[in-house]
Amino acid sequence: MASCSPSLLLQLEFPLTRRPTTPSSERSTRPFSVRSIKLPIRKVPGDYGIPFIGPIKDRFDYFYNQGRDEYFKSRIQKYRSTVFRVNMPPGPFIAPNPKVVALLDGKSFPVLFDVTKVEKKDLFTGTFMPSTELTGGYRVLSYLDPSEPKHGHLKRLMFFLLKSRHDKVIPEFRSSYTELFQNLEKELATKGKANFGDANDQAAFNFLARSLYGSNPTDTQLGLDGPKLIQKWVLFQLSPILNLGLPRLIEDFIFHTFRLPPSLVKADYNRLYDFFYQSSGFVLDEAQRLGISRDEACHNLLFATCLNSFGGMKFFFPNVLKWIGRAGVKLHTQLAQEIRSAVRSNGNDITMAAIENMPLMKSTLYEAFRIEPPVPLQYGRAKRDLLVESHENAFEIKEGELLFGFQPLATKDPKIFERPEEFVADRFLGEGEKLLKHVVWSNGPETESPSIGNKQCVGKDFVTLISRLLVVELFLRYDSFDIEVGSSPLGSAVTLTSLKRASF
Ligand code: HEM
Repeated sequence: MASCSPSLLLQLEFPLTRRPTTPSSERSTRPFSVRSIKLPIRKVPGDYGIPFIGPIKDRFDYFYNQGRDEYFKSRIQKYRSTVFRVNMPPGPFIAPNPKVVALLDGKSFPVLFDVTKVEKKDLFTGTFMPSTELTGGYRVLSYLDPSEPKHGHLKRLMFFLLKSRHDKVIPEFRSSYTELFQNLEKELATKGKANFGDANDQAAFNFLARSLYGSNPTDTQLGLDGPKLIQKWVLFQLSPILNLGLPRLIEDFIFHTFRLPPSLVKADYNRLYDFFYQSSGFVLDEAQRLGISRDEACHNLLFATCLNSFGGMKFFFPNVLKWIGRAGVKLHTQLAQEIRSAVRSNGNDITMAAIENMPLMKSTLYEAFRIEPPVPLQYGRAKRDLLVESHENAFEIKEGELLFGFQPLATKDPKIFERPEEFVADRFLGEGEKLLKHVVWSNGPETESPSIGNKQCVGKDFVTLISRLLVVELFLRYDSFDIEVGSSPLGSAVTLTSLKRASF
């Protein structure tokens, strides 16, 4: 993260005349050593309830009684603060310590990206970590802190993979997603509607395998089984923090209270592993050169491709259709005009340069990332005593405390974004570009880049490119489309009810 003295920031953003608004009972008794802090220092409000009972009660509120958004919003009201103490699921018996300090505004949230202040070891899934038996016995890259030497080696390997296959992305995306739209058209013609999610799962997996490894799953033992195998394996890792829509007592007992035994998914995982091992020889050679065993590298490639990449596409692509679909025909027409004109001016070729000339399309996607970030929960453990600032207060955090951010509230902070709850497709055009630093889906500002020293998503540029390619493909083929939206454990269930063929 770019560093800027917190006191300087405070002076710039908060005039000296500002008076404390904190109730005196909650004002910190310790004046903290930073004299230049102009915000009132407040003790972090909130509590964790009675041991064992409190976390379970909170789990039921989070999943069922209130639901995730209300769980946080009601507490913001209660404590009159966007920073407070709260339990995060799953709690007993999976996570022995569910206590976190929640950061729910766009000002406090970014401390989670500052690896000089927070440690990110074993925090990818939050207050619990899935068994390493699900990843070949290794702690894979997403769970490593940049202070661990292996983090740098593995992240370098991922950069190598993406760089070596860079020129395959556009052609393979086009062929996989042309196939997807052709299939959806057929389904629409016969059934009157078409499920985008299932088709997207297959297209996403085929695309990732073909573009990153030059291997076509249907030509191997894997056939069409990839997405199904991944979903089951992901369930074994993430079920403690997912709402699966089952009857609540059954769901809570089976999925949120105990870990599912990894042995039940081992055979499926091995099929995926064999596919990756056979397809990724060139990356495994590079891994050995970097001092990583072929086995450890392969488990990491599997995780990055199936959980980070496939998981991201499974969640984000339906959301793109949902938000653009709901925005209506006016936006569809503007996007179709912009995209077709940029492609025509580029000799009917889709290249990075052509895509750069599609400002509305780019802004629309940033807005989709802002309004519904695909990975909403982020964690970081305070490396030392520190002060975290919301818009109103500064809070003392003790070394070792777990900080947690619910990203959708940070990226819908009304003090940063106007009309935060609205999907404003052109929000990031012109002057709006200055707001891009507050778009943080990649675990860092959109204006910054992943490096071996930070925890920003390795696939940031790759994801940006393929989401743009999705919208380009969509509006080269169609003038407009209609959808129905339901919910699913990972994002939205989108059904297409019409696709209007390109008429200009
Ligand atoms: C829509 C798609 C994606 C989304 C939303 C996404 C999001 C994220 C987020 C939020 C993190 C940080 C997690 C944390 O520590 O809290 C992350 C890390 C990571 N992502 Fe992505 N990602 C996506 C696609 C990809 C792709 C295509 C790759 C391909 C290689 C990838 C590889 C990784 C890796 C390896 C890390 C760990 C980085 C590190 O340890 O420094 N992701 N991603």
